[in-house]
Amino acid sequence: MMSLWRGALWGRIVGESGYVLGVDMTPAMVEKARVNATKVGYTNVEFRLGDIEALPVDSNIIDIAISNCVLNLVPNKAAAFSEMYRVLKPGGRFCISDIVVTRELPETIQQAATMYVGCVAGALLQNDYLAIITAAGFTDITITKEKLIHIPQAILSEYLSDEEAADFGQPVVSITVVGKKN
Ligand SMILES: C[S@@+](CC[C@H](N)C(=O)[O-])C[C@H]1O[C@@H](n2cnc3c(N)ncnc32)[C@H](O)[C@@H]1O
Repeated sequence: MMSLWRGALWGRIVGESGYVLGVDMTPAMVEKARVNATKVGYTNVEFRLGDIEALPVDSNIIDIAISNCVLNLVPNKAAAFSEMYRVLKPGGRFCISDIVVTRELPETIQQAATMYVGCVAGALLQNDYLAIITAAGFTDITITKEKLIHIPQAILSEYLSDEEAADFGQPVVSITVVGKKN
């Protein structure tokens, strides 16, 4: 499992015989996860500091990799999906919630730090995103949920002219995608 400070909850979901491994690159998040796990008394969860482009996890040991709103922040998404593939057991699956776009964002939005930390500027085109997952080796790739993220006019007007804002067309989408390592 990847990048989850709510990982302690998964300690209950996997049951006593299961084990949860969480990874985040921010020491404060890892510390928060450890504190939460201790609070609820789970001993079957572990949090590691690391980059999901180079997971601090052995190969072929994970049943299910999950991630929520992280991949859009990662510069090398191909490396992150390859790493996910490496650590999964054959037959293992992933379930990722993330942000993608249905057409290229205007340059001023792509370059805006606030839009990047808001999980928008780093989002890939949906087709490119799915192509990266396929290239990593996954099969049975399916989008199970899709929701349009409406960016309010007041925010758009910080980065775009009135004309550009009118043309924006709301291309930002939250998706949940699943896939399998054969
Ligand atoms: C938007 S938060 C999502 C947190 C959590 N998944 C959740 O659902 O609440 C993004 C998290 O991804 C982590 N992150 C971003 N890039 C990362 C990377 N390359 N490797 C590991 N963690 C990363 C950040 O430190 C941050 O905790």
